[in-house]
Amino acid sequence: MRKIIFVTGNSHKVKEAGDILSPLGITVEQNNCGYPELQEDELEKIASFGAEWAADKLGTEVMVDDSGLFIRALGGFPGPYSAYVFDTLGNDRILKLMKGDTDRSAVFRCAIGYCVPGEKARVFTGEVMGEISLEGRGNAGFGYDPIFSVGGRTFGEMAEEEKNRLSHRYRALLKFADWLK
Ligand code: IMP
Repeated sequence: MRKIIFVTGNSHKVKEAGDILSPLGITVEQNNCGYPELQEDELEKIASFGAEWAADKLGTEVMVDDSGLFIRALGGFPGPYSAYVFDTLGNDRILKLMKGDTDRSAVFRCAIGYCVPGEKARVFTGEVMGEISLEGRGNAGFGYDPIFSVGGRTFGEMAEEEKNRLSHRYRALLKFADWLK
């Protein structure tokens, strides 16, 4: 098994990444040292900067994950500001903001940054198309899971294994694991 340090404060992400990567021969270990989050429009740039910063700080190869929910009716909001918007507004406020909107389409994107100290980061992206539900449904997962639905069910209503077979994170991690091999 190859072990990679996953720099994040989010233990849900670590659990998901571990479940997705372990059948592929990779284990992840969480490190909570944090890294400066660039105010950028593109998740790739945020992940790349974060991975380089954390690899240099820890002196070891690391991965980071920057994800964002892009809602079409809101012009792509909250996008790269998803963490801030989740903390300040939360799911109920987002649903209120979208009251009356018939276009519920949204995309969840994930950028996995990987870096070896002293080298440039590599970034692997994944996305999943879905819809913003009319109300929050399900208690599974975290963050926007109860309001992001794929095929009529929210991530919050899905078992972990089901989300992990189709999520933005799964798609990005699969590319990462392929490249590592
Ligand atoms: P960040 O990648 O930590 O910046 O996450 C952005 C925001 O999206 C945070 O509020 C996360 O909780 C949320 N988020 C990230 N990934 C997921 C996911 O897989 N499901 C639901 N919410 C997520």
